[in-house]
Amino acid sequence: MCYAIPGKVLEAQGNTAIIEYFGEKKKVRNDFFALSVGEYVYAQGGFIIQKISLSEALSILETWKELFFRLQEVDRELVQKETKTLYQKANSVRHKYHGNSCCVHGIIEFSNYCQCDCLYCGIRKSNTSVFRYRMAPEEITRSVEYAVKTLGFKALVLQSGEASWYTLEQLLAIVKEIQEKFPCLIILSIGEREIQVYEKLYQAGCRGVLLRFESSNSSIYEKMRPGHKLAERMDLIKKLKNIGYLIMSGFLIGLPGQTEQDIVEDLKVTDSLGVEMFSFGPFIPHPNTPLAKAPKPRMDVVLNTIAQARIKYPEAKILATTALESLGEKNALRLGLMAGANSLMVNVTPEKYRQFYEIYPQRIGVNEKTEERIPSLLKLLHSLGRAPTDLGL
Ligand code: 5AD
Repeated sequence: MCYAIPGKVLEAQGNTAIIEYFGEKKKVRNDFFALSVGEYVYAQGGFIIQKISLSEALSILETWKELFFRLQEVDRELVQKETKTLYQKANSVRHKYHGNSCCVHGIIEFSNYCQCDCLYCGIRKSNTSVFRYRMAPEEITRSVEYAVKTLGFKALVLQSGEASWYTLEQLLAIVKEIQEKFPCLIILSIGEREIQVYEKLYQAGCRGVLLRFESSNSSIYEKMRPGHKLAERMDLIKKLKNIGYLIMSGFLIGLPGQTEQDIVEDLKVTDSLGVEMFSFGPFIPHPNTPLAKAPKPRMDVVLNTIAQARIKYPEAKILATTALESLGEKNALRLGLMAGANSLMVNVTPEKYRQFYEIYPQRIGVNEKTEERIPSLLKLLHSLGRAPTDLGL
């Protein structure tokens, strides 16, 4: 299975390259390889992450060729000429700026220990009823191996609660092994760590960070995250951007006290941080948190936010989140993708741990085997004419 299409190198100079697939050219960064014109590569998030042999590339391209153009056709047909509703308008903007590409990233939740006590979060440290786990470094790399080699993922988020149990040395060793043996775009989602930790991990080959600012309203943020300051969070995200990381960031929709205007501001702030991928989703109350009785937002509020984001910030990638799917309404992912979203994540955490990463209850994908979830996601993507490609900037 394949979540990206091999690209042919047309030009390579310094750390940039032009690659081509099915007639489309993309500019990408090349930080890791000696490249020659005519070679084939995989790129993710605008970075070349792997070189592949000519024979492998040609056989993958052969299987993609017909499908690729068929999917483009399906997508084109689904984009309305007359855009009457907000969602139709957003979908046509998505089509115009991104074609039918859809990023599909895997996520491995490698530990649910957390030293934070965020009021909304089911793995907050005060929730003593959750079983805590930490995957050993070898278990993490084995899961990455499975996700990359068997399932075909080219981009993986490594996520954990915020905790300094894993030393920098351990994290570096994990990243080094992944880089050498199972090349993929490594995206860190490990919360607030010292900037030096992030610098070293960048040097080791990580290129993405997923870190939401949760709310741009400092009074909501500081109420929700006791002991934390919004300014510090923002400062860290900006520093990560300066290091060169691709940033995925965003906020929660529906936190108590949040107004419509706050959401508009949240979107503005996401854009101003120069994020590569908007990641915002609904707050879903967890029974063992102080917000157990707070209401979750309505689905249309989330879909409207996706559509507004797409229209205002057409070039951004926008994630259709698992939380959106977990709101409990039918076809949520389809609706998100048809309201402007163009990215999704697949949970590839070992099944025995998955239920314990319970940031909110009834998460989609927890009780489903990855091997069953992937074909059903691909079926959905194909029915919408979306191709899981993620080639250039
Ligand atoms: N509902 C929805 N999302 C949540 N997160 C944490 N708790 C919840 C919840 N109850 C999100 C936060 C965090 C991400 C890893 O999970 O936005 O950044």
